[in-house]
Amino acid sequence: MAFIRLVASVSVVLVASQVANAALTKRVTCASGHVTTNRACCALFPIVDMLQEGLFDGNECGEEAHSALRLSFHDAIGFSVHGGKGGGADGSILAFNKTENAFHANGGIDDITDGQFPFFLKSGLSAGDFVHLAAAVGTSNCPGAPRLEFMFGRPPPKAPAPDLTVPEPTDSVTKILERFADAGFSPQEAIALLSSHTIAAADVVDVTIPGTPFDSTAGTFDTQVFLEVLLKGKQFPGNGSQPGEVLSPLAGEMRLQSDFRLSQDPRTACFWQAMSIRLRYSYYTDNQQRMVTEFKAAMAKLQVLGQNRAKLIDCSDVVPVPKPFNSNIKFPATFSRKDVQVACPILPFPNLATVAGPAPTIPPV
Ligand code: HEM
Repeated sequence: MAFIRLVASVSVVLVASQVANAALTKRVTCASGHVTTNRACCALFPIVDMLQEGLFDGNECGEEAHSALRLSFHDAIGFSVHGGKGGGADGSILAFNKTENAFHANGGIDDITDGQFPFFLKSGLSAGDFVHLAAAVGTSNCPGAPRLEFMFGRPPPKAPAPDLTVPEPTDSVTKILERFADAGFSPQEAIALLSSHTIAAADVVDVTIPGTPFDSTAGTFDTQVFLEVLLKGKQFPGNGSQPGEVLSPLAGEMRLQSDFRLSQDPRTACFWQAMSIRLRYSYYTDNQQRMVTEFKAAMAKLQVLGQNRAKLIDCSDVVPVPKPFNSNIKFPATFSRKDVQVACPILPFPNLATVAGPAPTIPPV
């Protein structure tokens, strides 16, 4: 009898797990031939194609893709968990661009709001869905990046975010971490979000040298930025020192004061350094997996700030799968371990391969 009861309960568990699996693997084929988990997501595939061809110049990890990611941050961070600020990831930065573009921290962001606006009108999406879909699609064009989530169904934004919600490179670490905490992010998540600076360049920090990248590999989502920010600074890439800029290690490279200070501050230094390097068995390698996992998780939170996630539809499968990438962290030519400004006492910094030849000059992107 007991045996029969056991068999019966095992069968129930098996049937239940088969039902759950069937639900998990439910697939809908759209009229376009694309396959997705929810019919509502079918409407997004032609918009993804339009973005890839029109906005991102044929699936490129170029300036528009980088700026689309920056825009998603500047949009979402308008939020406070304590209330009284903006609507978060609601697209207010695009819908009310005349207001938000005038904020000092949004310098240069008009290029991407102007670039996105005609595609936004054509898409028929809410501004929030458009901004955060464009960020996920643009980021997917960068080899090494994670496939970001996309939740569909944000209502239109009600009002512009107020000024002074976006961190500035001149801000102190305390001010930056307080702002991130106010928006619901821990110091570790703040550093995870800053992985974005691996595909970044500055146009307005020094207006004489637009397109000056933050690391030597701005076209790939790798850990190199976490290493290069730790290297001893030697020069300014352009017209001397600008507000928010500190000495960078390589000609043609821009180092933000905020990135450098976060890499050296006891509250964040170990998170910063852990992103660059890890011990694997008996040798050191980059920490690509940690970086992409933490970035994806922190971005998933950022992309729905201020939204009721339960009311949104998970359309992450419309986001293209990023190209495969073999990461291989190296010291730029002429740099070695002695040039690393290690601020995390519990993580020893190893020797790494150094690129051969003279110190490079990093070209603008
Ligand atoms: C402490 C926080 C941050 C500060 C102070 C900061 C500051 C900046 C500055 C000054 C620029 C250059 C703007 C220009 O001159 O054109 C920039 C670029 C960029 N930032 Fe940040 N940022 C922060 C966090 C973030 C986060 C959390 C993200 C995304 C999740 C992000 C994504 C980007 C990207 C992708 C670019 C490059 C845009 C392009 O190349 O067009 N940033 N950031």
